[in-house]
Amino acid sequence: MVVPPVDAHHRPIDYLRLSITDRCNLRCVYCMPSHGVPRLDHSQILSYEEILRLTRIAVKMGITKIRITGGEPLVRRDVTYLCENIAALKGVSSLSLTTNGLLLGQYAAALRRAGIRRVNISLDTLRPSRFSSITRVGCFHKVWAGLEAAQKAGFSPIKLNVVVMRHLNDDEVEEMALLSLRNPFHVRFIEFMPFPSSASRKQFVSSDEIVERLSRLGRLVPCESRSNNGPARYFRLEGALGKIGIISPISHHFCPSCNRLRLTADGKLRTCLFSNAETDLRDLLRQKASDEELVQVIGQAIASKPEKHTLDPEVLHKCMGRPMVRIGG
Ligand code: 5AD
Ligand code: SF4
Repeated sequence: MVVPPVDAHHRPIDYLRLSITDRCNLRCVYCMPSHGVPRLDHSQILSYEEILRLTRIAVKMGITKIRITGGEPLVRRDVTYLCENIAALKGVSSLSLTTNGLLLGQYAAALRRAGIRRVNISLDTLRPSRFSSITRVGCFHKVWAGLEAAQKAGFSPIKLNVVVMRHLNDDEVEEMALLSLRNPFHVRFIEFMPFPSSASRKQFVSSDEIVERLSRLGRLVPCESRSNNGPARYFRLEGALGKIGIISPISHHFCPSCNRLRLTADGKLRTCLFSNAETDLRDLLRQKASDEELVQVIGQAIASKPEKHTLDPEVLHKCMGRPMVRIGG
């Protein structure tokens, strides 16, 4: 077994998030402005062969967990081709996908056959009209059908990501958490991260407030955390089939256990969501760099992964450098 690379702060880096497109069929208010963001040109986006080459190299270096993201990954043609080829790489222990669910009805079974084992679905509300205003263009019933298709296809656990925002859906926290009672879902509440071009910073709701709301439902039993379980803290309502997760990127650092790398659709390697620092792998690929050179450059980027991000939303706001839809969450 290959040992994962370790950064300068003694963190093993074994998780790569691949953003495969900057396009999306929704326009969520926390992710992009109403007019959307300019699209990258086709030639700027890595081809599947380029993504596969970089993934193969990263896996050889010790990356074992891979997540496919976007934009919305299911809008890219032949996404199952990419999944199959990544799943077939020796050394990949976990292959998952984050989606807004709109196209899951169509793709769930094929994704499962292609080797995806877990899906995260973004779902911020259970009210159809509210869903249309949060996503600006989306149809709740289509996502719900996607969720059912994912269940039928055998994905487990299905994680639902809920970004909590003031005056938008903060009054639905309890109702959404109750979904975990009778369904084996992990309902995960995520603090809104105020990025340039996303909704207003005033809409931030802290995870402490979310937990306070949840505790009105009864006792929250903490779930044992396995190491490297990602940034969520998990709880269970008594007797529930599923779990409730709390993800606090802003109010509580999970930087000390961060094991992530991100590859953007245009081939930039980012070692921190909140740092502008990017390593251009696309240019290297297209200049015919050898595998050894790529290993070296990726190794250098890992070595200089920032220790932590600032907790100051004022500053955070400025250091992203790209809208979320261009990084992949
Ligand atoms: N704050 C928190 N999470 C966000 N996401 C996108 N934008 C934001 C933001 N501003 C996450 C959501 C979504 C996924 C694609 O990225 O969880 O489900
Ligand atoms: Fe699309 Fe996800 Fe951004 Fe919503 S949050 S606009 S679904 S990329």
